[in-house]
Amino acid sequence: MMNPENNLKDRVEYDDSVLTNIGYNPYYLSINSEQSDMITVNGRKMINLATNNYLGLSNDERIKSAYIDAINKYGISMCATPIAGGYTELFETTQKKLSRFIGVENVLVYPSCYQANNGIFQAVARKEDLILFDRYAHSSLIQGIKSVGCKMLPFSHNNVECLEYLLNKSTNFAKVFVVTESVFSTEGAIAPFREIYDLCKKYDAIPVVDDSHGIGVIGKNGRGILTFSGIENYEGIYTSSLGKALANNCGVVGGSKELISFLSFFSSHLIYSTAVSPAVLAGINKTIEIVEEEYYSLAKTIYTYSQEIKSSLIENGFKVSDSKAPINSIIAGTSDKTVDLAKQLFLKDVLSTPFIFPSVPKNDGRIRLIAGANLKECTIDRVLELFKNIRLN
Ligand SMILES: Cc1ncc(COP(=O)(O)O)c(C=O)c1O
Repeated sequence: MMNPENNLKDRVEYDDSVLTNIGYNPYYLSINSEQSDMITVNGRKMINLATNNYLGLSNDERIKSAYIDAINKYGISMCATPIAGGYTELFETTQKKLSRFIGVENVLVYPSCYQANNGIFQAVARKEDLILFDRYAHSSLIQGIKSVGCKMLPFSHNNVECLEYLLNKSTNFAKVFVVTESVFSTEGAIAPFREIYDLCKKYDAIPVVDDSHGIGVIGKNGRGILTFSGIENYEGIYTSSLGKALANNCGVVGGSKELISFLSFFSSHLIYSTAVSPAVLAGINKTIEIVEEEYYSLAKTIYTYSQEIKSSLIENGFKVSDSKAPINSIIAGTSDKTVDLAKQLFLKDVLSTPFIFPSVPKNDGRIRLIAGANLKECTIDRVLELFKNIRLN
C-alpha cells in the first residue's frame, strides 16, 4: 500500500492554526499603493513598519525616472542568461559603482541575494571543507552551505571566543570558511566583524559576510560592514541584497578580481538565470549616487526614529532586543503571543513583521519594526502614542 506521505496532497498540508486562532494573517498582504508615508493595504491606509525601506528610497522620483529611461532605451528584459545574451552597457557602471561603494575589487550582480548566498558555496566550497556559521545566519546562507555536503558547524551568536575555539580545533579540513551576517535582521545586532576577520586571518580561514541589512545602513556614507569595521583590501567573500536600504532588487557578490571572474563562469545560480534587467541596473546606479550624497541626513532620520521607538517601547513595558542598527525587535515569546501583538498593531493601522517558529527558535517570537526615512515625524508620533494602548497578552 502507498504510504500516505507520498501523496502530494498530504505532503503539502501545513498547520496554520496559530493564524486562524488569532484571526490575523500578516503574510502576503495585498498592497494597493506606493510606499510613501502611508501605504494602502486592501484599501486601508496604514503605517508601514514592516519593510526594509530604511532610507525611504523605494518611491524616489529620481530612481523611478532612471528605471523609465532605461526601459525606453533598452527595453524590459534581456530574455537570456547573462553568459549567453550579455548585459547592457549599464552593467559596467554598476560593477564600478558597487565595487567602489562597498570597498571590494569587483562584484557580480545576481538576480537576488538568496541566489547569491546559495550560489557562492556551491561554486567555491568542497566536500572536504568545514563551514563555521553564526547560528542566527540567514536561511539563504544555511541552504547554500548545506548544498555543498561538507561538515558545517554553528558558532554561538556573535561570539568570537566560541568561534576561536572551533577554529583552533579545525585542523583536518582542506579549507575552513567562517560565515556571518553583518546586521542581524531579526534583532538589529551588529556582528563583531573586525574581530571575526582578524581570526580568519590568524587561522587562514575564508570570511563570508552577508551585508544585506548593513549596506545603506551602517558604515561611512552607508557603505556597509567593511568600512564600518575599518577593513581595507578585504580578502574574503562579501554578499548583500540590493532590495532593502538600496530599494531595488538583486544580490551582490564582492571580492577579489579572481573570485569574480571565476564565479562569472562557474556559479550556476548566476550563469543559468536570466540576466538582471536594464531598468534595475539603472535604478541601482542612481540609488548609489543618491546614497553617497544624502546618506547622513537620511541616516539621522532613521536612527532618531529608531531610538524614539525603542524608548517608547521600553517606557510602555515591552522587552526589546539590544539593537545597534535602526531595527526594533519586541521580544514577544510564543507564536500565539507574537501574532496577537502584530494583530493589535494592525488593528491600530500599523504593519509590523512578526517572526515566529520556524523563522526563529520556538517561543522566541519577535515583532520587528523598521521606520524608514520616508515616514513623517507626525506619523512616528502616532506610533509612539499607540504603544500605550497595546499589550503582550
Ligand atoms: C540577511 C539576508 N540575506 C539575504 C536575503 C535575501 O535577499 P534577497 O531578497 O535579495 O534575495 C535576505 C532577505 O530576506 C536577508 O535578510
